[in-house]
Amino acid sequence: MLSKVMAEALNQQVLMEAQSSQAYLAMGSWAEIQPGLKGVTEFFYKHSEEERLHMLKLIHYINERGGFAVVPELKQPTLTFVSLKKAFEELLKHELAVSASINDLVDLSLREKDYATHNFLQWYVMEQMEEEKLARDCNDKLEMIGDDRSGLYLFDRDIMNMESAE
Ligand code: FEO
Repeated sequence: MLSKVMAEALNQQVLMEAQSSQAYLAMGSWAEIQPGLKGVTEFFYKHSEEERLHMLKLIHYINERGGFAVVPELKQPTLTFVSLKKAFEELLKHELAVSASINDLVDLSLREKDYATHNFLQWYVMEQMEEEKLARDCNDKLEMIGDDRSGLYLFDRDIMNMESAE
């Protein structure tokens, strides 16, 4: 059974994953109306779906362990970006915040001697490592590309493969 403090902390993570999903959904919608960003659009939408699954996994876990998963109210995310680079910078910032939050949860699970939750969280630890790496790779590439339109074309064409190549 989850302690009250553990259940509350996991519910905070439900909120964070939901906000991530919402933020990437907004990035997808923005990218979809930009010229030539078909691949990037697909990438953001897919990521939004993944974050929703991260949220759902937490919801099931909280409820299965005797807590009550609370579906949270969401803030409107950033809707527009001055450039693709700015969108990806925001994505990386977001992922770093999620990683920090997962680390805090791992720490709390040990303090609470909740080894089942500690074990459950390992999946998120690994997932965050991959997501951070992918976000960093995208930022590095965009940094190199700068304003080069053919570089951007290739970035858009290859982004979905970058992800599946992991
Ligand atoms: Fe589920 Fe990318 O945080």
